Amino acid sequence: MSDLKIPRAKVYFPASAWLAGVRALARGRIHRGPELEQFRAAIAEAAGRRHALLTASGRQGILVALNALGAQPGDEVLMPAYTCRVILWSLLVPGFRPVLVDIERDTYNMDPRAMEARIGPRTRFVLMTHMHGRPADVGATLEIAARHGLKVIEDAADGIGGYWRDRRMGALGDASIMSFSLYKNLNGLDGGAVLCDDDELARRMAEELEALAPTAPSTATLVKRFVTAMVTSFLTHPLVFSWSGFWPIYFLDRLRLDVMQKLLVKLDDEERHPPGRPRELFERFANFQAAVALPQLRTLAADNAARRENARYLAELVRDLPIELPAQGTPEQWDIYLNYVVRVPAGTRDRVISECLRAGVDLYPGYVECLSNLKPYPDLAHECPNAEDLMARKLYLPVHPPLGPREMRRIANALRRALPPAGSRRLE
Ligand SMILES: Cc1ncc(COP(=O)(O)O)c(C=O)c1O
Repeated sequence: MSDLKIPRAKVYFPASAWLAGVRALARGRIHRGPELEQFRAAIAEAAGRRHALLTASGRQGILVALNALGAQPGDEVLMPAYTCRVILWSLLVPGFRPVLVDIERDTYNMDPRAMEARIGPRTRFVLMTHMHGRPADVGATLEIAARHGLKVIEDAADGIGGYWRDRRMGALGDASIMSFSLYKNLNGLDGGAVLCDDDELARRMAEELEALAPTAPSTATLVKRFVTAMVTSFLTHPLVFSWSGFWPIYFLDRLRLDVMQKLLVKLDDEERHPPGRPRELFERFANFQAAVALPQLRTLAADNAARRENARYLAELVRDLPIELPAQGTPEQWDIYLNYVVRVPAGTRDRVISECLRAGVDLYPGYVECLSNLKPYPDLAHECPNAEDLMARKLYLPVHPPLGPREMRRIANALRRALPPAGSRRLE
């Protein structure tokens, strides 16, 4: 695949998921069916938890966990300043107060010491996120939380299949959430799970989920998501991408038309509050979604391992470049690199993207944001230098399968041309 273009990301939606979706449609198993319970049990088992409930989204999982753990309006929830902004919905809609904490420079996860410094009299909860699939500093976070009597909700949205020590992500903290949205490693046409071990908590979570009065998505909505997943997974295959998606990206870059940036600014203005009753918080996970997600559990471990190996090799190849790499995964910190995110020198990002595009490598700054200075949320403002610096300099490097060593060398060569070290060499 050496001459093919390298897409920035992958949508995980293998042929087995397409077939399973078509089968579920043909049998009319849209909202109810046996796959719901099979998938629910498989998710609990995969995380090593006693209980799992399927939710409409990771966001709904956070809301359900907070309510079941007894959160009251005004309670403060410590969370990383670098994460997906939509998580704020789960806190702001019911009236909880997000308190942003700066991240560690090289893991992009919440810094436990900065977290402890932000604990106040109203602090009740910690959202412990494994950002980009890198395990948080679980030991320190749990120890500090226990000392201050805080409940911990583990955000394993990015970490399905990863480990911290010998414990799986999704099995840490009082409750855990997962996400099965389009850009995660397990695609459930949106959706998620909330997990725990405590029987009483599980009962309360089930009640809370019911109390949200979730409505079933229409069949047309589910089919639309199914087609979107099929089409995007098809378009992000290197072979198809080389002949289609790459070229608009390439020409927009040559013309300096930063459409994405304009779109983000527009979102910033529009997303002051989530829309009235966001479906992500008030919908029900459907059997059709379970049906397409189930077969993906078979390939999850291999996909995670492939990204890990690509990230390890790519790091080796670019180590001498003026690029800041994230901390390397270790047997203790079993990173699954859902995204491989690096920092380029300040002011070079656009040029690096353009030069890499010329070499057929599509890079982008990614969708995760620094929330500490978002225009629509002035109340959240807090100095978070590591999160702000990452936001200004980050670049996602593609490490997803089917990319392999050859593509990693092409990416490294493209970066080497864009950001040469003293006395550079090319890798064939
Ligand atoms: C780390 C993290 N947590 C939670 C979420 C929310 O998941 P969902 O979109 O399923 O609500 C996301 C969103 O992508 C995320 O990246």
